[in-house]
Amino acid sequence: MTTDLNAAMGRNDVELGKPANAAERDTLGTILGLCFGIPEADLRALLEAQDMDPLVVLRHGGEVVGGLILIDMGQHFGGRSVPMCGVAAVGIAPERRGEGFGRALVRGSVAYMASRGAVLSALYPATVPLYRSGGYELAGQRFEHELPLDSWTQRSGELSVRPGTTDDYAEMERAQSAAAREHDGTLDRGDYIWQRVRSPRGDTSRHYLVEGSDGLGAYLSLRQPKRTDGHIGYDLVLTDLVVREHEAGQRLLAFLSTHASLAGKVTLHGAAHPELLGLLSEWRPSSRLFMPWMNRVLDLPAVLRARGYAPGLSAEVSLRLNDDLCDAHTGNWILRVADGVAQVEPGGNGEIELSERGAAAVFGGFSTPRAAARQGLLHGPPESLDRLGALFAGNGPWMMEMF
Ligand SMILES: CC(C)(COP(=O)(O)OP(=O)(O)OC[C@H]1O[C@@H](n2cnc3c(N)ncnc32)[C@H](O)[C@@H]1OP(=O)(O)O)[C@@H](O)C(=O)NCCC(=O)NCCS
Repeated sequence: MTTDLNAAMGRNDVELGKPANAAERDTLGTILGLCFGIPEADLRALLEAQDMDPLVVLRHGGEVVGGLILIDMGQHFGGRSVPMCGVAAVGIAPERRGEGFGRALVRGSVAYMASRGAVLSALYPATVPLYRSGGYELAGQRFEHELPLDSWTQRSGELSVRPGTTDDYAEMERAQSAAAREHDGTLDRGDYIWQRVRSPRGDTSRHYLVEGSDGLGAYLSLRQPKRTDGHIGYDLVLTDLVVREHEAGQRLLAFLSTHASLAGKVTLHGAAHPELLGLLSEWRPSSRLFMPWMNRVLDLPAVLRARGYAPGLSAEVSLRLNDDLCDAHTGNWILRVADGVAQVEPGGNGEIELSERGAAAVFGGFSTPRAAARQGLLHGPPESLDRLGALFAGNGPWMMEMF
């Protein structure tokens, strides 16, 4: 326990760290089971399967009152993977809520992740103000699209579909990784996310593959839950979808349409306008924003160096960052971009002044700097804001997976 974590939490009557022993880990399992309505035994088994490292508990009076799970992975921005620590299963024991423990847990965990060398964090917020208090800001979106199958007429073409097995996992991972890095915000998955994609809670995904000209041309993973609209049959929920080549994508659509005698709809998650919709000849989707997600920038220079930038773009911007919680990156930085990469050095006149939440809003292209300025997250001359916006511009960060 360091005093820094207590300073971040703003109180000295709590402690934050890894579970000290199996009993504390079990208590965390019980609390998180109650928080998320998951059978306690399932959650305890999930936590037992990991070592203590990714687990965080908050103690008060020597008792565990809450905690969360950290997931090391990456997130793509500008075509490159930025190391990212995902935060999942944030929970406080039901009888201890409303005492400020949630806020302490979030703020303490931010300082804890920074002390472990994390440069960026992401999470799905059940409540936004809680995470804003730790410097997170809205940074991307996960949409849900439901496509009724009765409106589909797709031709099969020449290509064939085959079921995938564990022997195909390495090739699926290669195809997924190449496809994901083309889009801002997508996850550079680790084992935890692959496990959730392939074995969604209480279910197993089946995989269907189409060969392409160089490796897999497309594949999907799906579940078949029972229909809930009163008809017999099932729906098709895509837990993974990768399209590398046009013909292969068309073949997957035709494959899905062959389920129409008993299946009601196909559900998929991700971008506001997924590529797959562009391949459909007819579609009447019902779409909604399922949830936004938030980023927390823990080391701004490291994030700016790690992300990629559009080729052919070169510009220089001087930033003044204010971050009360992570003072290691607080200060003035010069960002110079050329040939798709950034150099970041201390110094400069700080033409744009931003908070850590401002950094989270703009670095991945979710908000333009002008929009972030209107939210009070940063300020600077309009010409400087536009120069920064040009460096971070993309087509809207999104993510397919939940964690
Ligand atoms: C969300 C949760 C972690 C908050 O813990 P807590 O100890 O009660 O939180 P705090 O007392 O520190 O309150 C911090 C802020 O969280 C937000 N918050 C707390 N409970 C909330 C609720 N039920 N609904 C919406 N926001 C809430 C508020 O903004 C609050 O700040 P305020 O009191 O200044 O308005 C807790 O209610 C919980 O475990 N809920 C069930 C699991 C869950 O939803 N986890 C979040 C998953 S992303």
